[in-house]
Amino acid sequence: MADKTAKLHLNGQDYDLPILSPTKGPDVLDIRKLYGQADVFTYDPGFTSTASCVSTITFIDGDKGELWYRGYPIEQLAAKSCYLEVCYLLLYGELPTEAQMDDFRARVTRHTMVHEQMHNFFRGFRRDAHPMATMVGVVGAMSAFYHDSTDVNDEWQREVAAIRLIAKLPTIAAMAYKYSIGQPFVYPQNDLDYASNFLNMCFSVPAEKYEVNPALARAMDRIFTLHADHEQNASTSTVRLAGSVGANPFACIAAGIACLWGPAHGGANQACLEMLREIGTVDRIPEYIAKAKDKSDPFKLMGFGHRVYKNFDPRATVMKESADEVLDLLGVGDNPTLQVAKELEKIALEDEYFIEKKLYPNVDFYSGIILEAMGLPTSMFTPIFALSRTVGWIAQWKEMIGDPQNKIGRPRQLYVGSDRRDYVDLKAR
Ligand code: SDX
Repeated sequence: MADKTAKLHLNGQDYDLPILSPTKGPDVLDIRKLYGQADVFTYDPGFTSTASCVSTITFIDGDKGELWYRGYPIEQLAAKSCYLEVCYLLLYGELPTEAQMDDFRARVTRHTMVHEQMHNFFRGFRRDAHPMATMVGVVGAMSAFYHDSTDVNDEWQREVAAIRLIAKLPTIAAMAYKYSIGQPFVYPQNDLDYASNFLNMCFSVPAEKYEVNPALARAMDRIFTLHADHEQNASTSTVRLAGSVGANPFACIAAGIACLWGPAHGGANQACLEMLREIGTVDRIPEYIAKAKDKSDPFKLMGFGHRVYKNFDPRATVMKESADEVLDLLGVGDNPTLQVAKELEKIALEDEYFIEKKLYPNVDFYSGIILEAMGLPTSMFTPIFALSRTVGWIAQWKEMIGDPQNKIGRPRQLYVGSDRRDYVDLKAR
């Protein structure tokens, strides 16, 4: 990949830095030998100008607002594919044939139940625990239930762990929800598709028949697809870092869930809906826009802005269309929260501050409105993001394990602490 070099002149020495060329996106300066040759580190807090790995999975162009999974634009996948097919694409790199899809669907379906002992494990949590807290604990505990798929050096075990995680995360997320509302767990039904199964496990009760609304299942499936992967974001980088030291796949995914929970990351969908509710009415929007612009006020417009997108997040565009469809279907098109969201987006996008700082709605801005309209509490928004992103985390983890250049992740630092000094006895201080 290196057909060009950059020259660095430092301390009277010249260094050739290979330039690596991508399929798409910016060139990459290969600095792997820089410390060894020039005895210098590079400084990049947040790694926002750093390529941490070579990947073939997802491409993002933040300036154009483009997102591709294995080269396929997200808009096309959201419109024409389904989440389980997207899982196959992310894991294996190509769209499946009909036979491959049938086999993959059958393998996932046969792993949707969790070990019965996990039901007891859940009972150790308080009923009012946040479902994300429960998910971090239960997914991490999967390594205590599924020993036969924890050896990262065994390709078959890696494959089984991937299928188990994709299959069981919806079951665990639904169990976390049922546990939090004091209702009995609902077992997965193998005759339902992935999204319908999740809705059934969330909303059906033993006391009466529950029919999944196919349009809502389609909308939920689209939400899963839109959240499936997103290049080297914070939680994916967490999974890769944990995986780089050989941690088992369940521990790595639990680490990813813990990271995703942060309000600046996957927790933003919950925070965004709570913000829209706090704003309450359109006439209060200017007050909150002013708060968002006020540097002395820590308030940020949740669901707005992105580390990479300096244009519309293409997922937000699809999500907005879906919000209109779902709320019209449910007869709540005049939902006050949706009205506030649409007016807030309109006002913000015309405001000089947001234009100058290139702040646009992101994936979290509309997702919460759809999920709330479906009857899910805000505490379930990030668990749904986590179960959707599990396939992306697993695909990135598998790619890293299979990368011959994979090393233990170990960033260095710019040390500005005390120089060496000797201990001073207490009496002498
Ligand atoms: C996700 O990385 C991924 O790919 C993540 C994700 C994925 O799929 O994995 O896309 C999922 O995490 C989406 C983001 C969800 N977070 C939120 O919606 C929380 C609200 N957004 C902000 O916290 C913020 O936009 C971040 C954290 C997302 C990005 O922050 P940055 O990196 O500081 O953004 P920036 O450098 O573009 O900010 C430029 C300026 C800064 O002000 P100045 O220092 O220039 O004065 O804009 C300000 C920021 O303070 N700013 C905001 C703002 N977001 C950035 N001001 C008000 N409201 C906001 N939302």
